Formats: sequence, C-alpha cells, structure tokens
Amino acid sequence: MGGMLVKYGVGLLAAMALLVPGNYTLSHPYTLSYPAYYGNRINTTDDNPLTVEGVALGRRLFYEPRLSVSNTISCGSCHQQSRAFTDSLRFSVGFDGTPTRRNAMTLTNLLWVRNFFWDGRAPSLEAQASTPLTDPHEMGQPLERSAVKLKADGGYPGLFAAAFGSDAITGERIVKAIAQFERTLISADAPYDRYLRMEYRFTATEQRGYDLFFGAPGRQIRSAGCGNCHGGPRIVTETYHNNGLDHVPADSGRESVTGMAYDRGRFRVVTLRNIALTAPYMHDGRFADLGQVLDHYSEHILYSPTLSPTLRDTASRPVLLHLTGEEKADLIAFLNTLTDSSFITDPHFADPKINVR
Ligand code: HEC
Ligand code: HEC
Repeated sequence: MGGMLVKYGVGLLAAMALLVPGNYTLSHPYTLSYPAYYGNRINTTDDNPLTVEGVALGRRLFYEPRLSVSNTISCGSCHQQSRAFTDSLRFSVGFDGTPTRRNAMTLTNLLWVRNFFWDGRAPSLEAQASTPLTDPHEMGQPLERSAVKLKADGGYPGLFAAAFGSDAITGERIVKAIAQFERTLISADAPYDRYLRMEYRFTATEQRGYDLFFGAPGRQIRSAGCGNCHGGPRIVTETYHNNGLDHVPADSGRESVTGMAYDRGRFRVVTLRNIALTAPYMHDGRFADLGQVLDHYSEHILYSPTLSPTLRDTASRPVLLHLTGEEKADLIAFLNTLTDSSFITDPHFADPKINVR
C-alpha cells in the first residue's frame, strides 16, 4: 500500500510539471515570526497558506485604489500605518462620502483574532475583506469588476501567477492575498514587549499604571480591573462585553449577530496594543482621547440589563472606580508602553508605491 502511495505521489508531481507553463516558479512559504508569549492559536488556514509572493501581492492590493468604484479609496485610506491602521476619524468616509456606521478598527495582531468587526460578525479575514470591498458606501465595487480592472493592468497577472500558480485574477484570490498580508501585521516590539522580555524596566509611573491595570494580588494595591477584559500579553481577551457606555445602546452590537437580547450593547473586547495611536475610541469613536476613556471607567459607567457583571456590584449598581488624577496619569503612562514605533514605520507594511502599469 505504502509503495502505491509513493508512486501515486510521483505520478501526480510529474503530471503537474507537465501542466505548468515554463515561466512558472513555485511560490515560497512565508515564515511568520512572533514571540512565544503570543501563543500558537493563530488563524491561518490550509486553503490559504502564506507565501512570500502572496503577501507581497496582498500588500499591493491593500493599497490599490482601483479596488474601489471611484478609483480613489483603498483599504489603506481608512487603515493608515502611521496610526496603527486607523484613520483618526470618528466615522470613516468611503468613496461616496457617506460615513461608516462604526469607527475604523486597528489592524494590529489580527493573526490571533477569531471573529472580526466590533460585533464579531466575520468568521475569517477572508470573509472580512470582501465586506469593505463591496459595501455600497465604502469601496462599492463587485469583486468581479475589481478582477476585470486588475486584468487590464500589465503588472497584475504576473503577480497573481507568482502567488497562486496561474495568472487567473478572481475575487477569491484578491481576498486571499489581502488576508495573507493582514496576517503579517504583527506588533510585538513596544516597550511593553521589551518589559516582557526583561529588556526594559518600567518607570515608576508606568509600573503603577501596570499594577492598576492588571491588579497586583497580595500587594495591597487596588485594581482597576482592566486586565479582566483586556488581559494577557496581547492586551485582549476575545470576549464580548457591555462596558456601560449607554443606558439604551443605539447600536445593538453583538445582538445583531446572535439575535439574543442577552447580547444587546455588547461589543468585542478589542486589543489595546498601539492604543495611544488609534483615537478616537470605542465602536462609535465617542471618546476623543484616553483621558475621556478613563473618565468613563472612573465616573460614567451606565447601567443597562446587559452591563458586564465585572462592572457592577451584587445589587447591579455600576462599579465606578473613582480614579485619582495620579491614577489616571499612571494608567495612561502604562497604555503608552503599548505603542510600537517599529510597527508603524516597518517598510514591509507601507504602500509599495510601485507603478505596475
Ligand atoms: C471607508 C473606510 C474603510 C475602508 C475603505 C476599509 N475599512 Fe476596514 N474597517 C472600517 C470600519 C469602519 C471597520 C469596523 C466596522 C464594523 O465593525 O462594523 C473596519 C474593520 C476592519 C477589520 C476588522 C478588524 C478586527 O479586529 O475585527 C479589518 C480586518 C479590516 N477592516 C480590513 C480592511 C481591508 C482589508 C480593507 C480593504 C479591502 C478595508 N478594511 C477597507 C473602515 C474601512
Ligand atoms: C468588562 C470588560 C472590560 C473592562 C473591565 C474594561 N474594558 Fe475597556 N473595553 C471593553 C469593551 C467591550 C470595549 C469596546 C466597547 C465598545 O466599543 O463599545 C472596550 C474598549 C476600550 C477602549 C477603546 C478601544 C478602541 O480601540 O477604541 C479602551 C482604551 C479601553 N477599553 C481601556 C480600558 C481600561 C483602561 C480599562 C480599565 C480601567 C478597561 N478598558 C476596562 C471591555 C472592558
């Protein structure tokens, strides 16, 4: 039996070699590197393995305005590297000037995310990418039309051949290449990472902020409980919570996906990596800066039936932290240690700006 399998394998390879045009070169596997403390629960898929050529194509497509109906908007318009792939706006604007319903999200460490968007409605990066591409107010162009436009460009067929083995340009391949590029957007070189690697000592204020953020059991230091939701080295646990923004949420959040009243006003706990760069904050960008975010957790958590149990007492009253001015400054100092300047300047993530015509 074993012998037959080997023979079959060899025969298949020979057949493939015959079918392949002469100028076709095999693509090279792309090696993702990240610190061990991020864990291996990554979202790569068997039907879209990362290759050097696929990532390069995905990067080109991420910055390709011709993927929009107006030829003016790319993913990079709303997801700008210098702002950790956000756009500084409360709501973004697509090609037709209509504001998006929610605040643009950071594209930091997507490799570990399971469910995408503020409400977790997209089950993979591949599924996510087709949403802005075809959304009538964002990029507004069917994938088939994008494929036709790219085919007309002298440069793209060769890039698709290098990435996928043939020069066919399809919507599925466009989305796959973009997802490959997005998986490489790993941020792991902030001062906080150097602290985790024992290469950096916190300043006194950063240390106090860290202790407050995570709590320091046994050390008589009070905890602000942030780490209960935004915990771990990636500063996120992928759960959904109502963090008390409204008595009656205008955006039903996770409920719109599950249909359960239990999920009303719950949103995905997002990573706080590079948070100092991604203002304004929350799903609707209601807070202009981190000071306002801390004022919220400190004084303004509002009751609603789905308010997270972590943020209310046994009588269902919101737990207000009443942070002092110094405590707020300490927390902000800690949050600033999550800013990764090499991530936002890494040339591998920048617009390749090569004219493919
Ligand atoms: C017009 C602005 C705009 C454009 C263009 C845009 N996005 Fe977004 N992006 C957003 C907004 C707004 C959200 C949050 C939407 C929501 O949660 O409903 C988002 C969310 C995302 C997320 C989810 C991140 C997470 O942690 O769940 C990913 C990934 C993403 N965008 C990638 C892309 C890609 C790839 C493109 C290009 C194909 C793109 N975006 C184009 C505005 C934009
Ligand atoms: C009960 C869980 C929970 C706790 C505890 C919690 N958060 Fe959050 N946090 C969330 C959720 C959920 C969101 C997204 C909410 C939304 O947009 O509607 C969020 C959003 C944020 C944002 C905005 C993220 C962005 O990209 O816009 C910041 C900053 C933040 N939290 C900081 C903190 C800090 C600092 C603490 C401690 C004082 C804390 N959080 C405690 C659940 C929590």
